Amino acid sequence: LSHEDQNMLEAHEWLMKLYHHLLKHTKEGKDGLEYLKSRGMKDETIDQFQLGFAPDIKNFTASFLEKKGFSLQSMVKAGLLTDNRENKYIDRFQGRVIFPIRNHQGKTVAFGGRMIYQGEPKYLNSPETDIFHKGNVFYNFDLARNTIRKSGEAVLFEGYMDVISAYQAGVENGIATLGTSLTESQARLLRRYVDRVVICYDADSAGIEATKKAANILQNAGCYVKIAQLRQGMDPDDYIKTYGSESFREHVIGASITYMTFYLDYLKKDYNLQIESESMQYIEKALDEIAKLKKPFEIDYYLKELKDRFDISKEALQQEIAYRRRKFD
Ligand code: UTP
Ligand code: MN
Ligand code: MN
Ligand code: MN
Ligand code: MN
Repeated sequence: LSHEDQNMLEAHEWLMKLYHHLLKHTKEGKDGLEYLKSRGMKDETIDQFQLGFAPDIKNFTASFLEKKGFSLQSMVKAGLLTDNRENKYIDRFQGRVIFPIRNHQGKTVAFGGRMIYQGEPKYLNSPETDIFHKGNVFYNFDLARNTIRKSGEAVLFEGYMDVISAYQAGVENGIATLGTSLTESQARLLRRYVDRVVICYDADSAGIEATKKAANILQNAGCYVKIAQLRQGMDPDDYIKTYGSESFREHVIGASITYMTFYLDYLKKDYNLQIESESMQYIEKALDEIAKLKKPFEIDYYLKELKDRFDISKEALQQEIAYRRRKFD
């Protein structure tokens, strides 16, 4: 670790403690605490995830860091302050509830912040720095690792709020990417611990698109992928608020379906299968996806539905699969 990296880690450690303290014990943090309570966060959860609040004061963090002896220019590099045009150092996260982002060793390397007042953007994360590479870490991996290993399964969420809500609901093997889509490097990392991953993204069009992408990346890394389904328009946090923890565990996580079933269901919605030409397009698309499966029995399993539904011979379908698989290599 370089001297600069060490310096950045120290600053994050100080600020994590400061923001957490402010949230819990001061009038500067009162709005943040009220906000988290209004979202159903328990005190233990606030402690467990070391949540905090960055007061809505332009230079609160800057003057704290300065007193601790940090050079403000290096804190801009660490992504903690921004350098505005008049060359004043402004707190990056002011007015936001703070979610410390820890690396897999448990060290705080970045922050995520949710705005609680008027103002954009709603969520803001630290930028890439020498100690924070978004594409290589999962939120909450350090805490979830043991449960992930023991259960043989990880649950992938869109955001930290969802991870935390799910954790409160008794799902302790939840992790999230950090405002970016899942990378191959993250999938490879996960594969070292588990072979099963449940994707539980938001049930909106962005979430569904992201689910397809993440599922493909995970499958290519050798993971067996399942999809947890929420009611239209909801996210995991909304679901838990509305239907409760038990329902979430049983009817969402516990009822997750295979990726292929999910995919074929969605695909069907794009075509009118009463019309011959649209059926042909559907079959083409379905075959494209089925051909990506690694295990022969899985391929057979999903071909059976096409065979029965459209009355196509098994031989013809298998030829189509073989043809597609030759194109992959
Ligand atoms: P969403 O856009 O689904 O948040 O982003 P939301 O559920 O509406 O937010 P709430 O419930 O009002 O608070 C999902 C997650 O994606 C991450 C955040 O972790 C967020 O929780 N995210 C989103 C980022 O990291 N950066 C962004 O710019 C946007
Ligand atoms: Mn590095
Ligand atoms: Mn979303
Ligand atoms: Mn959401
Ligand atoms: Mn939400």
